Parts: sequence; C-alpha cells; structure tokens
Amino acid sequence: MDSKDVEQSKALLEDQYNNFEITPHVKARKDLCFNLRSSGVILSLVLYSFAVSSLAGYMFFQGRKHTAPYTPAQTVVEYKMMPAREYAHSIYSANPSPEVDKAWNDLVSPIHFNATKEELRLANDDPDNTVRFFEGGYLGGIGVYHQLHCLRRLYWNLNEEYYFPNRTSAKRTREIGHAVHCLEVILQNLMCTPNTALYSFAYNPETDTIPVLKSKSQRQCVKWEPFHAWATSRSVPYNVTLLASKNLLEKLDMSKLEGER
Ligand SMILES: *[C@@H]1O[C@H](CO)[C@@H](O)[C@H](O)[C@H]1NC(C)=O
Ligand SMILES: *[C@@H]1O[C@H](CO)[C@@H](O)[C@H](O)[C@H]1NC(C)=O
Ligand SMILES: *[C@@H]1O[C@H](CO)[C@@H](O)[C@H](O)[C@H]1NC(C)=O
Repeated sequence: MDSKDVEQSKALLEDQYNNFEITPHVKARKDLCFNLRSSGVILSLVLYSFAVSSLAGYMFFQGRKHTAPYTPAQTVVEYKMMPAREYAHSIYSANPSPEVDKAWNDLVSPIHFNATKEELRLANDDPDNTVRFFEGGYLGGIGVYHQLHCLRRLYWNLNEEYYFPNRTSAKRTREIGHAVHCLEVILQNLMCTPNTALYSFAYNPETDTIPVLKSKSQRQCVKWEPFHAWATSRSVPYNVTLLASKNLLEKLDMSKLEGER
C-alpha cells in the first residue's frame, strides 16, 4: 500500500476512531447461550416467526423488484467486474495543468446530447416543450454528464487561484452556491447507486498509526469507454445554435422561424 493510499484510508476513518488502539480484550458471550425448555414455547415461536418472515419476505421482494426505466443508452451499456476498492489516483485529481484541463474537457464534453423526438417521448418528456437545435434534434443531456460537470466544478473550487484568479467576492459567493448545488447532485446520485461491496480494515503498526481500509470485493461497473464513445457520438459542440421550443414560438406567434431552418 503506497503512502497516498494510506492517506486516503485515514481520511475514511471517522474522527471518533482517530484515537484508535487495539483492545486485545474479548468479551465472553455466554449471555447469548440459553436453553428453550418448553416445546410449547418453541412451537409458538416457530409459528410466529413463520408469519413474520413471510410478511417480511413479501415486502422484501416487492422492494427488490427491478424494472429498468427507459434510457437511450440501454443498447450500449455493458458491464464488467472491477475491484470495489477505489484504485490509484487518476489525472482528474492531479494538480491543475493544461493536460488535466484537457482530460476533464474530454470527460465532460458530451454534456449536450442531441435527442430525437422518439427518445424524448420514451423518457416521458414533451418534445413540443423542449429547446431544439436549429439544425434539428432536441437539446438533451445524459445524467452522468451533469454529475461530472458538477464534480469538475468542485475540483475547480479546490484550486481557486488557478481557475478563478482575482474573482470578486460576489462572484465567489455565486460560484460557491453552484458548488453546493453540485455537492447535492453528487450526494443524491451516490445514494441512488451505492457501492454495496464489503470493505474491511488492516492494521500495520510499523507503518500506520490507525487501521487502513482494504477490500478484495468485486463490483459491477458499466464499461465506461464504449458508453462514453456513444455519448460523445451523440453530443453537439458548445457553439451550436439553439431554437426555442415549438410551444414557446407558437405562443409568441413566431412559428415562421421554424421554416427558416
Ligand atoms: C441531431 O441529430 C439529427 C439526426 O437525428 C440531425 O439531423 C441534426 O442535424 C442533429 N443536430 C445537431 C445540432 O447536430
Ligand atoms: C490578478 O491580479 C494580479 C495583480 O493584482 C495581476 O498581476 C494578474 O494579471 C491578475 N490575473 C488575472 C487573470 O486577471
Ligand atoms: C463551432 O466551432 C467549430 C470548431 O470548434 C467550427 O468548425 C464551427 O464552424 C462552429 N460553428 C458555429 C455555428 O459557430
């Protein structure tokens, strides 16, 4: 485990464990052993637990029903097994540089998706109430790119002098407001698709003062490259010309604009 790994793991231990010490003391658990002498008691316990577990089982499977909702990515998403434990740091968290900026740009660039009328309808959306592209298609977005945009925002705020040199305090307040929103976006998404793999802790007194996180668990991940390639192929550049929704143009009696495409 390299030192960066250890740093990360330490950060993952909650503050109250920072005074960690190994306690060799093992509490005797004799209090958990007891005898059930009366078979009458056993029979009613069996019947009772059967009723409770049937109900719990029913509720459990209701909660586990998995019906995947529509996404235009459904035909491109593939899965692979990955180590559940976060691996070595990537370029996205390196110190600011033109290379880092390019990497983030490539990651976030598919943020504007060219959606079709049919895709919007399948996603319960109303095409007539949606901003369009002058060249055709609808201004859409794939969820993860909103989150990645948000994560980059947080990265920028961690490197304030580089990304927001000489900003006014009003601009700073506005930007921090955006970053707080971004934190919430990422939080909600983490809680929606939690990493449920089992992690544990090792303790190496020679090198670490406190236990460090470890895991040999696997986790099912979406194959990022084919997904990202698809999203990129469906994206539009930032300088694309937008056209207001059909409904708005009609309301403003400007539907003739559509004919000018
Ligand atoms: C969006 O895709 C459609 C084809 O589905 C194409 O005709 C249109 O030009 C595209 N729009 C942009 C802005 O690339
Ligand atoms: C920020 O301010 C310093 C000195 O006040 C100036 O030298 C520098 O060019 C400014 N940077 C930007 C990006 O405006
Ligand atoms: C958008 O930018 C690209 C290059 O990045 C350029 O080729 C294209 O002409 C631009 N389109 C508009 C509408 O400005």
